[in-house]
Amino acid sequence: MEVADVFGDLPPLETERLLLRRLAVDDVLDLHAYACDPEVARLTTWEPHASTEASRAFINAVLAKYAAGDIAPWGIVLKAEGRLVGTSGFVYWNPQHGRAEVGCALARRLWGRGLMTEAVRRACAFGFEVMGCNRIEALCLPENVASARLMEKVGMRFEGVLRECAWTRGPYRDRRLYSVLRRQWRAEAPSTPRQEEATTHVAASSITLTGPHPHRIAAMASRRATRSASSL
Ligand SMILES: CC(C)(COP(=O)(O)OP(=O)(O)OC[C@H]1O[C@@H](n2cnc3c(N)ncnc32)[C@H](O)[C@@H]1OP(=O)(O)O)[C@@H](O)C(=O)NCCC(=O)NCCS
Repeated sequence: MEVADVFGDLPPLETERLLLRRLAVDDVLDLHAYACDPEVARLTTWEPHASTEASRAFINAVLAKYAAGDIAPWGIVLKAEGRLVGTSGFVYWNPQHGRAEVGCALARRLWGRGLMTEAVRRACAFGFEVMGCNRIEALCLPENVASARLMEKVGMRFEGVLRECAWTRGPYRDRRLYSVLRRQWRAEAPSTPRQEEATTHVAASSITLTGPHPHRIAAMASRRATRSASSL
């Protein structure tokens, strides 16, 4: 299986309260409404979106990934509101080793209601059943207790600390590593919505995100906007 086999035609997914679907150009204001919040970005690797142009740049970068069949997130729509409230999905996938990593962000006003547990569980089911993953991982900063708790609720186990594993707006920072295995998922989450089982033998070479992460593109757009504003 190749990355483009899945991400070239990323299907929508549904949970009780959420629709996970591709981001669209029209999501820009809803995306900006939460991505500009410094508290949402604080424990992530991306900068808060300083302008709607930064959010537009993020969406355009994601749309380019959909078009290229690259790894890209789903937008999360809260069914009760019919609007985009976050993103969730894969940030890394190595089909040869059956290993992928999930990432997510949600509007602050909706935290603590179990919504992201619902979204990440659904994404993991997709990872095991459609992408044929054997292992799905998540990383978070040590102080991101909400993310750590979320991973545990999804069924992931804490494996250890990756020392100074990533640059985060300044110093290299440790990351806590969580994972769930396919056999564990099957044993512990039998109620997960089932999709078509992936039976194809995985034979692709290591594939990861290509090009800058969309949130980095948004940050670059923010900086450009700031520079042009300050030069007026
Ligand atoms: C991490 C995030 C996605 C969680 O989304 P969410 O919808 O609030 O998650 P859930 O409600 O499904 O689960 C969160 C759990 O963490 C718990 N939690 C949240 N803040 C906490 C805190 N300060 N201390 C202890 N537990 C906390 C919640 O109570 C809940 O657990 P519970 O159901 O057992 O009570 C959301 O906080 C977010 O978008 N954060 C900013 C972006 C981010 O950090 N993304 C992850 C990068 S690794």
